[in-house]
Amino acid sequence: MTGSAMERLTRTTVLGKSPVGAYLRLGEWIWRRVPRSITTLRPVTAYAHLMHELVRLHNDRRQYFGTFFLRNRPQLQLICDLAGLRARDDAVRIAVLGCSLGAEVYSIAWSVRSTLPSVRITVEAVDISDEVLAVAREGVYNPGVSELASEAICERMTEDEISKMFDREDGKLKVKSWIREGIAWRAGDARDPQIADVLGRQDIVVANDFLCHMQPAEAERCLRNIAGLVDSGGYLVVSGVDLDVRTKVAAALGWKPVPDAIEAIHEGDRSLRLSWPWRYWGLEPFDKKRPDSDFRYASVFQLGAAPPRAYESVEVRKSPGPR
Ligand SMILES: C[S@@+](CC[C@H](N)C(=O)[O-])C[C@H]1O[C@@H](n2cnc3c(N)ncnc32)[C@H](O)[C@@H]1O
Repeated sequence: MTGSAMERLTRTTVLGKSPVGAYLRLGEWIWRRVPRSITTLRPVTAYAHLMHELVRLHNDRRQYFGTFFLRNRPQLQLICDLAGLRARDDAVRIAVLGCSLGAEVYSIAWSVRSTLPSVRITVEAVDISDEVLAVAREGVYNPGVSELASEAICERMTEDEISKMFDREDGKLKVKSWIREGIAWRAGDARDPQIADVLGRQDIVVANDFLCHMQPAEAERCLRNIAGLVDSGGYLVVSGVDLDVRTKVAAALGWKPVPDAIEAIHEGDRSLRLSWPWRYWGLEPFDKKRPDSDFRYASVFQLGAAPPRAYESVEVRKSPGPR
């Protein structure tokens, strides 16, 4: 079926109801009851990819505030490693766009400062919503479900991690003061072409889990804009985005995927993986058989650095192919 035929199908209604919506709900109901040994079979996965296309066309997109502390551990580890690589006399500059309630920002600040105590960092934390920024700035959380995020945002932490990151005050969790230092909280729009002038160039830019809530054309424009924030040789961390959008922009702008832990990071955020194929933001399973898998599934890229000579010569050797 062509894309436009599929799009027409998703808009069809019978007596005011969408048969596609009903079909998708039934599909999800069955999927949740079928063992993993069946849902991971190739023909079933191929069917699920088709369902995901339908879901993406059928459902309207909207922004959410959902977030977690220590959301994607392999990704956090890589951010720490990259901060170490960019360390110099000045502080390493990190920007977190779409920071929501601050869980991701504090997770990064805590992880970098506790694993690399000699590395200084500054963090620019940006969100389009003043409502979430007010909570993030305060750094005080309920241990249970957050009303704004509709999630238990500490649920991925151990008790030991909670006691290291927070002070307990009147039944609430307050981020320790040494983790809160050096963070500037700002209202801003990642689509704003002036954003690099406002924030200045950064060593590491993190843009997770908001581009998937934009229509693909808007997400593409936004991602290109975000790339302008990354200093030459710096890194962009971008997950929670349509893979086709990320792949297209990364290829067009010549980004170099960081090869470390690609699969672990891809699988590292269970809410995205488990949402596939029935939510438009769901993340497809890592497919090792795809020839472009390292590019398609990478979520961390180095931007604007001249490739080292060894890398250049490997590329030249590769292109003619073995004879
Ligand atoms: C789902 S939350 C993700 C939070 C966090 N990045 C994470 O991965 O856990 C998306 C956040 O992005 C923010 N957002 C959406 N569009 C934005 C934009 N154009 N510029 C800046 N922030 C945006 C929303 O307000 C929301 O707080």
